[in-house]
Amino acid sequence: MTQLLVLSEHDITKTFTIADAIGAVEDAYVQKAKGTGVAWPMVYEQFAPGEADMDIRSGELAGSGLFGLKLTAWFGANPERGLPEIFGTVLLCDDRTGEPLALLNGSALTGMRTGAAGALGVAHLARKDARTLLVCGAGHQAAFQIAATLILRPAIDHVMVWDPRHASAPVARVEQIEAQVAQLLADADASSSARIEAVADGKAAVGAADAIITVTPATEPFIEADWVRPGTHLSCVGADMPGKQELASDLVAAARLFCDDHAQSVASGEFEVPAAQGAIAPEDIAAELGEVIAGTAAGRTAEDEITVFDTSGIAVQDLASAKTAYDRAVDAGLGTAVNL
Ligand SMILES: NC(=O)c1ccc[n+]([C@@H]2O[C@H](COP(=O)([O-])OP(=O)(O)OC[C@H]3O[C@@H](n4cnc5c(N)ncnc54)[C@H](O)[C@@H]3O)[C@@H](O)[C@H]2O)c1
Repeated sequence: MTQLLVLSEHDITKTFTIADAIGAVEDAYVQKAKGTGVAWPMVYEQFAPGEADMDIRSGELAGSGLFGLKLTAWFGANPERGLPEIFGTVLLCDDRTGEPLALLNGSALTGMRTGAAGALGVAHLARKDARTLLVCGAGHQAAFQIAATLILRPAIDHVMVWDPRHASAPVARVEQIEAQVAQLLADADASSSARIEAVADGKAAVGAADAIITVTPATEPFIEADWVRPGTHLSCVGADMPGKQELASDLVAAARLFCDDHAQSVASGEFEVPAAQGAIAPEDIAAELGEVIAGTAAGRTAEDEITVFDTSGIAVQDLASAKTAYDRAVDAGLGTAVNL
């Protein structure tokens, strides 16, 4: 009889850390570059436009003996029903037998694996002397991006947080983010003395930053080309559906471009709108980040180059993270085994 391990948010957060997510996502990207990791085309359907939708991201990690999927369902009216807006569920299966291994709370994994992705972009593409990070967006994802970046780039000693939707600095919110970052680092046995501050002047902050992470649901760009200093790196995380865009198209056209998945980045990532406008062609993307990490493609080629990494989120990130969380839970005796 097949036994499936069900892992709740509690089971996952007890043992799976942001450092685990960094290791898992790096491995997933490298497997994708080497051909043992595959992201299959995303399925996206709207139940009612602007009210409720769902997407399924699936793929295989042959190097880890796995295939599976993450189903994300967004129902905007849920808070009125006392329910979360988003449900994420990951199903992990054995790729030799097809046997389902585990069903995991995907929401608990998403922040971790997404933070790892944006941070890996900074780690591999920002200038070696980068000291200042700007995070655009002060929502749920922000703390994961900051914590993962501070682990991978310990020389960063100043983090600015800007909320493009608000005229004033998000001071109270950044105090919460700071506490969350401290907890994520402590859980991973890591620490940082970086100063984290809320800023209100986005243009000045962009001009002062060595590395920038954008993590908002914007559909109108909020970073202009002439705000960005030569040599800056930008990791774009927010655009994960058609129509979303955080950077001006002429900024993207002037930069050296990287992504997590070629096809998805021009179909539903940060490069979708610039490609549709003709500002860039799909061939302008220099490489997937996994190829840079694996050493089969060049990353940054000059100190004054602007680099942009688009991560729109791929299943191999979820599968690799879910596998580590599953292994940790098995070791700790956590989870509920169900006979299917
Ligand atoms: N690439 C991936 O793998 C991945 C994974 C998870 C989430 N995301 C995306 O990241 C984005 C942020 O997610 P979150 O959970 O932090 O969201 P959130 O709603 O918690 O926070 C969003 C932040 O962006 C700001 N904002 C809202 N609308 C804006 C606009 N039109 N222009 C500029 N700023 C705006 C908000 O004030 C807030 O600071 C979403 O688009 C989400 O879909 C991507």
